[in-house]
Amino acid sequence: MLLAIESSCDETAAAVIDENLVVRASVVASQTDLHRRFGGVVPEIASRAHVQRILPVIDDALRNAGVKLDDLAAIAVVTHPGLVGSLLVGLTAAKTLALVLDKPLVAVNHIEAHLFACRMHAARDVFPAVGLVVSGGHTNLYDCPGPTGFELLGSTIDDAAGEAFDKVASMLGLAYPGGPSIEAAAKKGSPSAFQFPRTFLKDASRLEFSFSGLKTAVLYEIAGTPPQKYDPASFSPQYVADLAASFQEAVVDVLAAKCVQALVQRRRKTLLVGGGVAANSRLRERLGESALKEGFAVVIPPISLCTDNAAMSAIAWELLAQGQTADLDLDVSAGLVRRR
Ligand code: KG4
Ligand code: ZN
Repeated sequence: MLLAIESSCDETAAAVIDENLVVRASVVASQTDLHRRFGGVVPEIASRAHVQRILPVIDDALRNAGVKLDDLAAIAVVTHPGLVGSLLVGLTAAKTLALVLDKPLVAVNHIEAHLFACRMHAARDVFPAVGLVVSGGHTNLYDCPGPTGFELLGSTIDDAAGEAFDKVASMLGLAYPGGPSIEAAAKKGSPSAFQFPRTFLKDASRLEFSFSGLKTAVLYEIAGTPPQKYDPASFSPQYVADLAASFQEAVVDVLAAKCVQALVQRRRKTLLVGGGVAANSRLRERLGESALKEGFAVVIPPISLCTDNAAMSAIAWELLAQGQTADLDLDVSAGLVRRR
């Protein structure tokens, strides 16, 4: 049994996963309610909430799994990337358990764990593959030759896709978090009502993303150029729905096109998708259509394994098998590269 701890952003999570990758328990304490009135995650509030929740969440996971601390083979913890103050809470809990119980400590990359969720969902080997992680903080494309050791092919040069959803939702007066709100509003709108930019869409040589131009285009549409003060309460529901649908379509067009371009370049036949934005039904639908048309397989986990959770840190079983354990001087890192 493996205990996995996750506190990289605004979810405090713990999970118990057995060596066959069966999730025995997965507990996620979301902080969305604490951050809603600020329209985004406030790092200091997040780390304080993690401190309050981390022990009850770990206790719940162990109790739900019917597992005692002595039964654990190792303690896995997400150390990067994420909010440093938040990551430190999970790391401190994990180090303490590893030290007291004399169990191996395994450092997990949160983004790689998002892709490993696809391996868990498929319940079979899904590698080699191309992987897309689309979340509030990241929009990254990877080549994944095996279950670990992913090669970053490209990422966003400005906003992450989820961040763009959150910011555009806020411009339209829709509730936080923006992704689900935009998706709901878009269902009644026309995706071709507005022609928004699709950056790098046709440039197959660039496996990068940029969403800040799209965000600005939405702002210019609703507030004019230069933008004037406006009240989203004055917008008709149809106008909001059309803007949401047209914005969502532009994001989905680019994400799907870049996945296909990466699959072609790397001659891979499987696409793995993870991260909160992978919960988006239009994106799922579009990737399914592309897969049929272009002849590749697509694996997208259920929403509970797409949004932040600790179960996906089961990638630690692979790292453990490769002898990749960490020392107690392990540190957190805001960026993609692990520190000791
Ligand atoms: O992976 P995640 O739970 O946390 C991070 O590591 O960032 O992703 C959160 C992001 C938020 O930006 C949220 O708006 C977005 O995922 N999201 C969605 C949907 N559900 C969540 N974006 C588009 N459509 C959705 N249905
Ligand atoms: Zn995430």
